[in-house]
Amino acid sequence: PTPVSIRHLREMHAKGEKIAMLTCYDATFARLFSDAGVHSLLVGDSLGMAVQGHDSTLPVSLDEMVYHTRCVARARPHSWLIADLPFGAYHDDMAQAVRSSVALMQAGAQMIKLEGGGWTAPAVRALAERGIPVCAHLGLTPQSVHALGGYRVQGREQSGADRLVREARELYDAGAALMVLEAVPGTVAQAVRDAVPDLVTIGIGAGPDCSGQVLVMHDMLGLTPGRLPRFVRNFGADFPSAQAATRAFVTAVADGSFPQVGMHTY
Ligand code: KIV
Ligand code: NA
Repeated sequence: PTPVSIRHLREMHAKGEKIAMLTCYDATFARLFSDAGVHSLLVGDSLGMAVQGHDSTLPVSLDEMVYHTRCVARARPHSWLIADLPFGAYHDDMAQAVRSSVALMQAGAQMIKLEGGGWTAPAVRALAERGIPVCAHLGLTPQSVHALGGYRVQGREQSGADRLVREARELYDAGAALMVLEAVPGTVAQAVRDAVPDLVTIGIGAGPDCSGQVLVMHDMLGLTPGRLPRFVRNFGADFPSAQAATRAFVTAVADGSFPQVGMHTY
């Protein structure tokens, strides 16, 4: 199969074909997910919890993100490869954001992702101008968990929803090519789509009106112990192997059966 490019993702968005994304932190799963048809892999700083055993993403360092990005990239996946800028690696200024992003791109990332609204617009612009594709991330931004007062749904009230739409517009204008929307009511994703129709959105707990869906791989495979967020579907419970569960995830995203309104949405 031809490697997935940003042009390919834009085309899928334009045609209404749904993009399937999973987090991925190592070479074995990179190959498995790529072979199963996952369009994009995200080396997420969720590895702080899923791999390192922390209770938030805040302790994850840039060096650790570089290490996992290298592990995933070495598998030469056909999927579009995105890496997260971790907490503190883009918070000082634009120059730091560029330096940190260069490290991730040199490790094999094709796009970097950063969390936050308007304050990140100068960094998004600087990166886009320098040929580094950017994925923005709005809604529940886990690096801000302490400011948000916990892992809570965002944009439930009108003022919060309006702000998210404004910020989506601002980040798109600054050059963000992709945007993750996390834990927001489906109506917020609809409003973003209506306001910024060309923006490629990837939802996680944001309802079906996104260009694609992402899950943390351990949640999708049913390997995460304890109570899971409402938006997770455990494909591992219904399919006998990681390969089969992953193919089922890609199919369910493509045919719209995941996420199911009412069941996986806020
Ligand atoms: O780190 C991560 O896994 C993420 C996704 C949940 C979007 O940022
Ligand atoms: Na993340």
